[in-house]
Amino acid sequence: MERLPGFRDFYPEPTPHPEVWSADARQYIFDKWRTVARRYNFREYDGPPLEPLELFTTKSGDEIVGQLYNFTDKGQRPVALRPEMTPTLARMIAAHERNYKKPVKWFAVPQLFRYERQQKGRLREHFQFNADIIGESNPASDAELIALLIDTLRAFGLTAQDFVIRLSSRNAWQEYYKSGKPKTESGPAEYQFFQVIDKLERATPEESEKKLSALGFSLHDVNHFIASGKPTAELDCILQNLAARGLRDFARVDYQVVRGLAYYTGVVFEAFDAKGAFRAIAGGGRYDNLVKLVSGNKVDLPALGFGMGDVVLLELLKERKLLPAFDSRTDVFVLIENEGLRPQSLKLVQDLRTAGYAVEYPLTAAKSDKQFKRVQELKAAFTARVENDAYVRIRNLNTRTEVVAGFADTRNHLR
Ligand code: HAM
Repeated sequence: MERLPGFRDFYPEPTPHPEVWSADARQYIFDKWRTVARRYNFREYDGPPLEPLELFTTKSGDEIVGQLYNFTDKGQRPVALRPEMTPTLARMIAAHERNYKKPVKWFAVPQLFRYERQQKGRLREHFQFNADIIGESNPASDAELIALLIDTLRAFGLTAQDFVIRLSSRNAWQEYYKSGKPKTESGPAEYQFFQVIDKLERATPEESEKKLSALGFSLHDVNHFIASGKPTAELDCILQNLAARGLRDFARVDYQVVRGLAYYTGVVFEAFDAKGAFRAIAGGGRYDNLVKLVSGNKVDLPALGFGMGDVVLLELLKERKLLPAFDSRTDVFVLIENEGLRPQSLKLVQDLRTAGYAVEYPLTAAKSDKQFKRVQELKAAFTARVENDAYVRIRNLNTRTEVVAGFADTRNHLR
């Protein structure tokens, strides 16, 4: 049986070959995400992987709706696997916002599902670090979130030479759109326009020109606006805030970014590798109307956030050789060469595990040489052999020194 295309198996290291996804690398990424989020005082939340279909169809925009894994469940409910976390977060906030002091700073590490064409950096499931701030409209919160994004990437050893945050603003694009179409309100045509801008880098100039002229714009003028790159007042605030933290070099204004999702309202941004060889590492922005929309106008709170996928990040870390070696950590191997001492050995195994050590031992009777081979495979730091009811012989395999210790004293010799 093959697994479905675009889905992954994760194997423990050492993996059979470099193309196999590593469970240890995944855990390494999750740990870093959580560590940095906590440094910024974000709290972890989670929601269900299966949601009512409607949560996504009215809020996320056509592109993501076209990629939904949806079906009717046995209770005849239209449901979908979550393609993103933001609508779930908006629903959760709307339900219990009164119990939480503002601004709310929350993060999550959900697995997400999108029926996309499988390609480099894009699969049909991925894990995404989501960090969001709810209840604060000042650009200081945008800067706080972008600083978290930068520090998360820096925690993996990436530097300003490796990645850049491309900052933009839907407000700037909205003004540009309105100056070209003075009589039109925001609406489907404006969203269509954003979609064309979002695809500029991946589409041919001819395709873009055709779509833009159908909306009453020209590629030449659009490119001119992008090249001018004059920061709006809110972008200026963010850049100054980042400069005060010494993080200014990581961000630049780039109006090419507009983001594909429908709900963004103001500042938007994406993180890319500096050479532009990979797809976006992360993307996010302000979505000041989503909580209101999801709550049926009951709760109105400004919000912003980003999502960082594990797929592109891992590709980049591999290319930059920034992944550590994932040796399995066996602290002690308890040798059992005399089966008569198995009960005492099991007691030692139990004691050492209770004391927090990673302990391995032969499950069934095994010859000495086989046990020593296993010690080497596991790269154990110590071996321990029960000598009798009272004593244990401990060998430090790095220093090649041996001590005999009292049974209860064994743990103190394993440092
Ligand atoms: P997004 O731009 O759709 O934003 O996804 C964010 C990141 O998730 C992308 O930059 C990419 O790294 C990763 N990603 C997306 N789709 C795939 C895929 N098919 N395979 C692998 N990786 C993928 C959002 O999802 C927003 N909800 C983020 C957000 C949070 N905005 C506000 N708060």
